[in-house]
Amino acid sequence: MATIESILKETRIFQPAHEFSQQANIPNFQAYQLLCAEAEEDFQRFWAKQANEQIFWHKPFTQILDDHNPPFYKWFSDGKLNVSYNCLDRHLATQADKTAIIFESDAGEVIYSTYRDLHQRVCQFSNALKSNGIKKGDRVVIYMPMRIEAVVAMQACARIGAIHSVVFGGFSSKSLHERIHDAGAVAVITADEQVRGGKHNPLKATVDEAIAMSDVSTVKRVVVYQRTGAAIALNPERDVWWHDIIRNSSKECDPEWVDAEHPLFTLYTSGSTGKPKGVQHSSAGYLLGTKVSMQWIFDYKPADVFWCTADVGWITGHSYVTYGPLAMGATQVIFEGIPTYPTAGRFWEIIQKHHVTTFYTAPTAIRSLIKLGADLPRQYDLSSLRLLGSVGEPINPEAWMWFYEKVGQSRCPIVDTWWQTETGCHMIAPIPGAMALKPGSCTFPLPGIFAAIVDEAGHDVESGKGGFLVIKKPFPSQIRTLWGDPERFKQTYFPEDLNHGKFYLAGDSAYRDKDGYFWIMGRIDDVLNVSGHRLGTMEIESALVAHPLVAEAAVVGKPHEIKGESVIAFVVLKGKYPQKEEVADITQTLREWVAKEIGPIAKPEEIRFGENLPKTRSGKIMRRLLRALAKGEEITQDISTLENPAILEQLKNPS
Ligand code: WTA
Repeated sequence: MATIESILKETRIFQPAHEFSQQANIPNFQAYQLLCAEAEEDFQRFWAKQANEQIFWHKPFTQILDDHNPPFYKWFSDGKLNVSYNCLDRHLATQADKTAIIFESDAGEVIYSTYRDLHQRVCQFSNALKSNGIKKGDRVVIYMPMRIEAVVAMQACARIGAIHSVVFGGFSSKSLHERIHDAGAVAVITADEQVRGGKHNPLKATVDEAIAMSDVSTVKRVVVYQRTGAAIALNPERDVWWHDIIRNSSKECDPEWVDAEHPLFTLYTSGSTGKPKGVQHSSAGYLLGTKVSMQWIFDYKPADVFWCTADVGWITGHSYVTYGPLAMGATQVIFEGIPTYPTAGRFWEIIQKHHVTTFYTAPTAIRSLIKLGADLPRQYDLSSLRLLGSVGEPINPEAWMWFYEKVGQSRCPIVDTWWQTETGCHMIAPIPGAMALKPGSCTFPLPGIFAAIVDEAGHDVESGKGGFLVIKKPFPSQIRTLWGDPERFKQTYFPEDLNHGKFYLAGDSAYRDKDGYFWIMGRIDDVLNVSGHRLGTMEIESALVAHPLVAEAAVVGKPHEIKGESVIAFVVLKGKYPQKEEVADITQTLREWVAKEIGPIAKPEEIRFGENLPKTRSGKIMRRLLRALAKGEEITQDISTLENPAILEQLKNPS
């Protein structure tokens, strides 16, 4: 644990403004503590009460938590519901004409969709899926641009009980193939092309490539949404146009009532080994988590215009685009493009144009916007904003201050939300009307979330000391299993040595300060956080060694001003150590290779070549040393176990 030492010393503190607290769903710290006390007294009863209030149940549940087979917990398991019904039909009687989605395309075209319209689109597409043979329990991979249709596709799956697995449009055909294969998907929903920042990305061609690789004969249908009209190849046996299959389908579709534990979706994320993990979520518990967090953390009000900038390819886009806001009956903005196109003021322009009240984005976006125009927000009318949010990685205090002062004009609280693909919704985050904020701290756990920091033996550590972030009791929105790999699920998240497998191990290190505030320090496993995206070092290493030139590779992270972390690869080539004049070419080749194998987000920023890698006598790569080398630090660590000390000199100087 000696390696986990906190270094941040932040003393600024921001009390919630009286005007904010006054109108807030949870208006003061006592109200928060009361909820926590209720959960502490009986956490099952606490969550059961929430589940009864928040969810429309087709058949009410009588069992709360089924924990007879930990860590395979079940919540509300004899209840029946439909998530899409909860997100759409429920609002028709009261607010059918309310705008559900304000969509803005990359080029600036705006489309409004009301709850009535969205409901009809989802029903129509649900019927189309059914008439194409897709049924309850089938897995459907969605590889789509950020448009209304992506939400429609996800909601339609939920409506018919199919399990969606969204793959981010930036992933390569290889990554897509791996996910289609692991899920055993029967269908893929995609578009001809994606358009972001003026650039076209051929999604359908990538799907074709992915399916042409081995072992995905399960895919019987590819549904193609026509985004740009670009010429694409259509396989008449397998491929259908979105617009064709909805043409004759009814705009009404009864929801499929499913069990509370019916998988709503799987979403692949990186772990410590090369193979991505298919995180499986439930229907009821997940929905409940997104709903309570909308109210507690985003202080949701019916008049809000909510904007979460995350792509639906990530968990944030699932919970705070497709499900949470719609379950609340909110009006939300969905944006197809990127923050810097056509100008660095695009985000501010969208906030101004659509009167956004709640703006949720990532530190990496904030840092790049500061760099491109620290004073730009001043040129826009951002007075509609009332709340800001951050997610994906620790937000450094300077970025926090800029966001607070320049974007929120020192009026808007910032909710720094710590959570994960696996937790489904916020776990540790400020309740904005109730808590004083400290820049860089995600503050306190949500009511009913028993987060703590423990040592290797599972004992609580004292304040100020770093340790493993765990959640001690089950919670409704948690991961249910890893698709097809329950053993890995158990080992990764509920290791035996932490209180006999009873604690959920998040994989992050953290500490609490003297006031009890949580501060996240970083990952404890071999997972990098590049621009808020999780990348496993092993995944990138496997991609590198798959190249015919490469004998061995090790990947580490290095702090990066904008991206948070960047990828540095240490590579041993087959045959000779490269000549100076060859280095640039080989580097370029390998970077492109990784982009093709995984996706452009995984491209190494820098590649260093060596005749060998620093290894212990037992042959283990000494990553600590590589991390120090990547950062350009002097090696002060003990290298007595290093088999080949001479290698350090070679790797120190970037070739
Ligand atoms: C990191 C994204 C500090 C953390 C929702 C976590 C954060 C991983 C924060 C999950 C935050 C996310 N402060 N670190 N507010 N939010 N992280 O699965 O390391 O893409 O384990 O989920 O991102 O990333 P994921």
